[in-house]
Amino acid sequence: MSSVARNPETDLPILLTGGTGQVGAALRRLSCPGFEVYAPERETLDLRDYENIATMVASRPWRAVINSGAYTAVDRAETETELAWTLNAGAPAALAEATARADIPLIHLSTDFVFPGTKSQPYLETDPVGPVGVYGASKAAGEMAVQAKNPKHLILRTAWVVSPDGSNFIKTMLRLADTRDEVAVVNDQIGCPTSADDLAAAVRLILARLEGEQPAFGICHLVNSGEASWHDLARAVFDQAGAAGRKVPRLTAIPTSQYPTPARRPANSRLDTAKLTREFGLRLRPWQEAVRDVVTTLLAQPTR
Ligand SMILES: NC(=O)c1ccc[n+]([C@@H]2O[C@H](COP(=O)([O-])OP(=O)(O)OC[C@H]3O[C@@H](n4cnc5c(N)ncnc54)[C@H](OP(=O)(O)O)[C@@H]3O)[C@@H](O)[C@H]2O)c1
Repeated sequence: MSSVARNPETDLPILLTGGTGQVGAALRRLSCPGFEVYAPERETLDLRDYENIATMVASRPWRAVINSGAYTAVDRAETETELAWTLNAGAPAALAEATARADIPLIHLSTDFVFPGTKSQPYLETDPVGPVGVYGASKAAGEMAVQAKNPKHLILRTAWVVSPDGSNFIKTMLRLADTRDEVAVVNDQIGCPTSADDLAAAVRLILARLEGEQPAFGICHLVNSGEASWHDLARAVFDQAGAAGRKVPRLTAIPTSQYPTPARRPANSRLDTAKLTREFGLRLRPWQEAVRDVVTTLLAQPTR
């Protein structure tokens, strides 16, 4: 009788926060033997409750914790400041303490919004942070807490996440395509549109590599290749929707000054990914391919 070799580490489940979010849903889709994801909903694990976090992490042996739970409403954060800090700074601190006690890795999702956006080149992991809004400031504080409390941390900064789940820019554009004849989108903020599914697949590989010799703990940028303005991204969505026979609006480009929002946003959100390639041997595909997959999925859905 043949027996299947078992690996005591990878047989353990991974505790995932934020499993109902865009990134979390993509990670849950990957759950399988060898990458078993346990993602309690907030009724079971409320990230505002730091004792709840400690108890959950200590409740059983985990392979690792992935924190994709967060307060992500960038504009509302300007007024719901306390909640943003509780979820984006306090919860990561509690997760880092608990995972350090358990001596397991913490993979923590963070954001391009920790940067001010004034650099002319893509941001490196070594560039100083300098957030321009409450969301970015709370996420930067979360990064600092994670770094301080668990040496086995990997902070993955991503950006401009798109997926068939949750609410995101692509879904907004497709909704506007149905209802508007003209859409104006800013063309002076540039960043790296990133597919939640590509990100999740990379996280899975990265975790395996963290468990090898000389794990590359620290901070690493994780985005699809290339760069775009929001206007470029809208163009890509409408071109594909139009080619599929959908009604598309006329798209115009406007500066950020003509689209005021409660929170300021970094003009340059580009993240350099050389470290991702150097440390983990990964390079995500161009954003255009990733966006095409998301739009294809959304166009195939009867209601959006
Ligand atoms: N979206 C982007 O463009 C983007 C860009 C850069 C970085 N990131 C980072 O990537 C990570 C994942 O983002 P995302 O887009 O997947 O976020 P998301 O779709 O907004 O999901 C946020 C998740 O956090 C959970 N959550 C919120 N409050 C909670 C609480 N009190 N207790 C437990 N869970 C709670 C939500 O659960 P409920 O469903 O119960 O509300 C949801 O599962 C975050 O760290 C974010 O900062 C995102």
